[in-house]
Amino acid sequence: MRVTRNSTISSVSDPALETRPAIPAAPPARPDPGAVAGLPVRPVDIEARGLGRQFGETPVFSDIGFRLARGESVALVGANGAGKSTLLRCLMGLIPVSSGRVSLLGTDPNTARGPDLRRLRARVGLVSQKHNLVPRLSVLSNVLHGLLGKAPGPRHWSHALAPRASRAAAMAALDRVGLADFALRRADRLSGGQSQRVAIARAIVGDPEVLFADEPCASLDPAAGEDVMDLFFRLVRDKGVTVVFTSHNVDHALRYGDRVLGLAGGRLQLDATAASLSAATLRGLYD
Ligand SMILES: Nc1ncnc2c1ncn2[C@@H]1O[C@H](COP(=O)(O)OP(=O)(O)O)[C@@H](O)[C@H]1O
Ligand SMILES: [Mg+2]
Repeated sequence: MRVTRNSTISSVSDPALETRPAIPAAPPARPDPGAVAGLPVRPVDIEARGLGRQFGETPVFSDIGFRLARGESVALVGANGAGKSTLLRCLMGLIPVSSGRVSLLGTDPNTARGPDLRRLRARVGLVSQKHNLVPRLSVLSNVLHGLLGKAPGPRHWSHALAPRASRAAAMAALDRVGLADFALRRADRLSGGQSQRVAIARAIVGDPEVLFADEPCASLDPAAGEDVMDLFFRLVRDKGVTVVFTSHNVDHALRYGDRVLGLAGGRLQLDATAASLSAATLRGLYD
């Protein structure tokens, strides 16, 4: 089933969803320069215009456009191979777009260079499906790596070299993911769920304004995955961070996203609020 962009979709109740509490959207914790006469106008943190990407002659997607407001949580859904990870990477500037433009926090990550690009990267965090921790280093050192965007150089390679303030920030981030007691443990001694929590601490230690998460719990068993999703969204919602996450899990998309974008057939086929969607409608996108 295909759903057209911006369509209004009536909700079909799903008992499985109703029993689970939704996490309410937090008001933006960051200053809102667009606020006029007490009426908040949320700034746009991410904008895509006519975005396309191809590998060789094969297009993955084309003509993708949307604007994401500050503090929004957006689920990017679609079947395997639909281009979710590719789109996420294009939005972050990790791979170049083939056509169109991206604005991320007011900067085009595809054209920014040198200090501008570094400043932008320091304001953005990423949690991937695989935690990508450095196995032989301590948990604390791995979290400190999250500050390398802000302060590149060897002082943030290892906890033994790190400035006191950075160590304190890393310990605070570990505390927020419930792993302060594991700070000096080697990263390769952790379980999958613990490793992903450390990856979350690494992503939030620099207080990012925008966070991207690519299937953040796909490598975990369902129970650990639920814990990680819950923790991640509580932390980022508290701070009013703008979040774009990809997910295979329809339930997660509706529970943690304010808005759902759906990729199918190389196009943005769905752009709707989570509240206007049912699990059945969303599942249709995968068929
Ligand atoms: N580096 C690459 N080189 C060639 N093709 C790629 C590359 N990365 C992704 N693709 C292709 O782009 C399509 C979308 O992939 P991806 O973005 O990983 O999808 P999703 O995350 O939705 O599963 C797939 O057909 C995949 O094979
Ligand atoms: Mg992917």
